[in-house]
Amino acid sequence: MGKDAHHRSAPCDGGQGGCILPLFATWGASFVDRPWREGDIDVAVKLPSSGALPEGQSPGCDPSGLILVHRIFRWLYRELPTLVREVQPGDLDRAAIVGDYAKLDFFALHLHHETEDTVLWDRLTARDPACGLHVDRMRAQHADVASQLARIEPQLGPWVATADATLRDAFARDIDVLRDTLLAHLGQEEDDIMPVAGAVLSQQEWDELEAHTRAALIAHRKELPKDVMSLQLGLLLASLPEGERDEWFRANVPAPIRVLYLLLMKRRYDRAMLELYPDRPVPAMV
Ligand SMILES: [Fe+2]
Ligand SMILES: [Fe+2]
Repeated sequence: MGKDAHHRSAPCDGGQGGCILPLFATWGASFVDRPWREGDIDVAVKLPSSGALPEGQSPGCDPSGLILVHRIFRWLYRELPTLVREVQPGDLDRAAIVGDYAKLDFFALHLHHETEDTVLWDRLTARDPACGLHVDRMRAQHADVASQLARIEPQLGPWVATADATLRDAFARDIDVLRDTLLAHLGQEEDDIMPVAGAVLSQQEWDELEAHTRAALIAHRKELPKDVMSLQLGLLLASLPEGERDEWFRANVPAPIRVLYLLLMKRRYDRAMLELYPDRPVPAMV
């Protein structure tokens, strides 16, 4: 993937959605640029099922932001089993901290897959029936991930409540298996789905990933930590090679959010990383 593939072609004007990546960064922009309206959830969830492009839209979009989001998931799930295993038996404070981040990782993965299930699959097969086999495989892999999460998530509470070593090890082992399933899935999605999506979906359709995610995040905002926006943006920046971050930041993040990040959100992100990695450097994402 070339350097420019992560960038939208036009600089972001902080306008009506679609100016930064789906799933993580857009939430911050949306709160500032577009006051929440009740009807937005309907707009985001009720998608047309037709194979035809909506009038006035043309095929061809830039799906490369998905690569950054996938990098974040690879990193989160690569690191999580280690973080869990490092919690010493009986250390309830540390188990609570790692448990909070694990919960967020599980929420983000559910949301990412639910968004793709809702926005992408039917539309891709309607538009390009030849990709049906790939889409079926993606659906099956999402179902596999969901059933593993259903086995893993109930283990979180009992482990956090006791910091018991046996519970910890079983929890970490199941996350290892999920990580391997997820790594295979993310790679196949990038190889088999992204090129089709880039060719047959309009940019407006691709941007519905973002609208759907925004609606779901807002619907769940009371369950999420206050600094989740700072985490999203900080992780997105971490998903880029250091030399590309400034340019990506300017091209994809609206000016008010850039200022907010530099004044406040970056400190929150750094604090979260220090909480998660108090005695070793934060593992690099790229
Ligand atoms: Fe997926
Ligand atoms: Fe994905």
